[in-house]
Amino acid sequence: MVQIWYNKTHKTPKKTLLNAVIRTARNQGKLMKNNELVDIKKKRRLSIAPMLDWTDRHFRYLARQISRHTWLYTEMINAGAIIHGDPARFLAYNESEHPIALQLGGSDPAQLAQAAKKVAQYQYDEINLNCGCPSPRVQKGAFGACLMNDVGLVADCLNAMQQAAPDCEITVKHRIGVDKQTEYRIVRDFVGTLREKTPVRTYIVHARNAWLDGLSPKENRDIPPLKYHYVYQLKQDFPDLEIIINGGIKTNAEIAEHLRHVDGVMIGREAYHNTMIMRDWDRLFYDSRQPEISYPELIQRLYAYAQTQLAAGRGTILRHMARHYLGLMHGLHGARAWRQMLSDAELLKANRAELILEAWAEVEKGL
Ligand SMILES: Cc1cc2nc3c(=O)[nH]c(=O)nc-3n(C[C@H](O)[C@H](O)[C@H](O)COP(=O)(O)O)c2cc1C
Repeated sequence: MVQIWYNKTHKTPKKTLLNAVIRTARNQGKLMKNNELVDIKKKRRLSIAPMLDWTDRHFRYLARQISRHTWLYTEMINAGAIIHGDPARFLAYNESEHPIALQLGGSDPAQLAQAAKKVAQYQYDEINLNCGCPSPRVQKGAFGACLMNDVGLVADCLNAMQQAAPDCEITVKHRIGVDKQTEYRIVRDFVGTLREKTPVRTYIVHARNAWLDGLSPKENRDIPPLKYHYVYQLKQDFPDLEIIINGGIKTNAEIAEHLRHVDGVMIGREAYHNTMIMRDWDRLFYDSRQPEISYPELIQRLYAYAQTQLAAGRGTILRHMARHYLGLMHGLHGARAWRQMLSDAELLKANRAELILEAWAEVEKGL
């Protein structure tokens, strides 16, 4: 990445200058993101996985304070919920969350198209189709991982989504196979067919099978063996595709190793439970020269955010935000006190944003 311009004060830059920079950047194959120029090829180098109940807007806001460039995914949202429910409830997000991708669940091309059209109106940077979730609830609706058994239908879904949202990137997240299909050719043929029949060029691959019979969704994230070499082989066989690897990746050293073989790395649970792992990512993986955020600065931002959210009166309570902060002090002396205070039902009940400052004061005592 070449960083040629950055506005230190975070004020809105002069529009003309900004537009000129964006135009030049696009011509050079670069993209303006959060006031830094990112090589377009690197934009999805790192991403936070879609995680139901975890990657809601409050967690994404937290993640964005720590890394300016990491690509963020929403939880999976059922296409039907967007069509029949209140779209604003499912689709609204904070502007600062960009770059942000929305993950859709569904298997009806017409319904997915309708949902994608609405999603595109909210200026998401990407719409992803879930073909990897093994939950029985999802299987009943015949989508998620079981879609891997019907690549023709997946192609129809992706084409319908792309037609409905022509300016939005459509991507797919999937496994390497379903149940007993353990040979490499299963995932190779799945990706190869989609490459041929759809405009989709980005494939996020959770490097294990989904066992639809007999394992819970949680077991399905741990028990089927990881086969990273299958994902590396996909990149070899389809060098023109953007291949993102996912599953069981926990350290920056592991990320760096995977990036020798594929275009991007998606992290789920480790980023949730140890969110400060993201602190080095912009520097290590996006060549950013911005200083990393300090704990006191982060705490101040979370405090200000909580104040605004609580004051907005849209039913947000402190617990909705604080539950995502429990892993923030991972590895620090005061981590236990921090966790205890921010998960204490009695303390949370008062809905005072100051609880965040008070919990931090406990951590600071041990620094
Ligand atoms: C609580 C939880 C919820 C998840 N929800 C989704 C989801 O909505 N859509 C999806 O594609 N994957 C979902 N996943 C799977 C993750 O996106 C990811 O593929 C998986 O956790 C493996 O990555 P990791 O080992 O880095 O966590 C979920 C995982 C967890 C832990």
